[in-house]
Amino acid sequence: MSSFMNWLDARFPASKMWKEHLSEYYAPKNFNFWYFFGSLALLVLVLQIVTGIFLTMNYKPDADLAFASVEYIMRDVQWGWLIRYMHSTGASAFFVVVYLHMFRGLIYGSYKQPRELVWIFGMLIYLTLMAEAFMGYLLPWGQMSYWGAQVIVNLFGAIPVIGEDLSLWIRGDYLISGITLNRFFALHVVALPIVLLGLVVLHILALHEVGSNNPDGIDIKKNKDENGVPKDGIPFHPYYTVHDLLGVAVFFFIFFIVVFFFPEMGGLFLEKPNFEPANALKTPAHIAPVWYFTPFYAMLRAVTVDLFGLPAKFWGVVVMGGAIAILFVLPWLDRSPVRSIRYKGWLSKIALAIFAVSFVILGYLGLVPATEGRTMVAQILTVLYFLYFILMPFYTRMEKTKPVPERVTG
Ligand code: HEM
Repeated sequence: MSSFMNWLDARFPASKMWKEHLSEYYAPKNFNFWYFFGSLALLVLVLQIVTGIFLTMNYKPDADLAFASVEYIMRDVQWGWLIRYMHSTGASAFFVVVYLHMFRGLIYGSYKQPRELVWIFGMLIYLTLMAEAFMGYLLPWGQMSYWGAQVIVNLFGAIPVIGEDLSLWIRGDYLISGITLNRFFALHVVALPIVLLGLVVLHILALHEVGSNNPDGIDIKKNKDENGVPKDGIPFHPYYTVHDLLGVAVFFFIFFIVVFFFPEMGGLFLEKPNFEPANALKTPAHIAPVWYFTPFYAMLRAVTVDLFGLPAKFWGVVVMGGAIAILFVLPWLDRSPVRSIRYKGWLSKIALAIFAVSFVILGYLGLVPATEGRTMVAQILTVLYFLYFILMPFYTRMEKTKPVPERVTG
């Protein structure tokens, strides 16, 4: 074995990489619950790719055959139902895990210097993931696949001057058609997964260059022993590889309860109109995207006024795009001298709580049909969402922070 390793190491940095990223990558010893979601995101990524490959073996990207091919997978292909439900549940699980992973970043200030790039790569992953999920949802060619895509692609039409041509270019047709289905298939199964994988590699390389943050937001590299090993660090392998297996076990337990017993999740994971084949002549009464997009969808619908000669729909798209874009500059909005919420003042704590609650309620509002009252609530919550970011440079500087300890607190 060792002579093989010598042979390999002379030709490929196998041991070097193992050490750098696992056995001699020192991670803070105080990781908690919130630190499970990075490795779980990796797990779900692998799960989606593997189940996706098997689905592709029997799926037909053709407007006349797609819906029936999914039914065929569900009824006739051996274990097809399992593969398909793992993939559809996996899509929602991905967003659950990624939202919790991002929230961890917010509470512990993981986006702050020197981890700005880790955050930016994360945001690019998030954007790609949204595109990946959106395109995947068209593939079963059900009513909601069709009309959801119709609504979203039409949004591009709200952009002045180029909008109409742009949405025509995306669809490849004057309406969502088999042509759109073909290109979404190509993007969903080949192009975007490659981009996702590449971004995840960059995300982790950037993280390992600077080292992980932790619930105290302390720089563990400031306190090293005589061997240059951070005193508050432990080797990622075996400590966190084994630790993360606990997260994997709990995740699989919950994941398979959903796959086996609640794969539709009451219409949240697989929407009811999607059990009917796409019909360009019959619009469903209520069109709503899948739950992970609904906070942004609620913001889009909250904008109801025409301004500067441009329609409300345009401004809705601006608000929706802005809600995501503003997350990119988060590292430069937070001016606090401390990272972790543990040592920030009460203004930051209240702001974060209001932000999180607003996001969740917006998610609910995006799921249900709009009424006048709900639209007003969505308008208020959209303003609160943006205030969290816009006021951040002020409240993070104004508030009194607590002293940060020298060593991690456990
Ligand atoms: C496919 C999706 C993703 C995968 C596979 C992934 C993977 C990982 C892994 C393995 C870690 C190290 C373990 C940990 O700290 O939990 C990590 C850390 C991190 N990720 Fe992600 N990530 C993903 C998406 C995102 C997104 C969408 C964001 C934010 C926009 C993000 C922001 C961060 C940050 C800031 C850290 C450093 C955390 C710290 O050191 O406290 N990640 N990611």
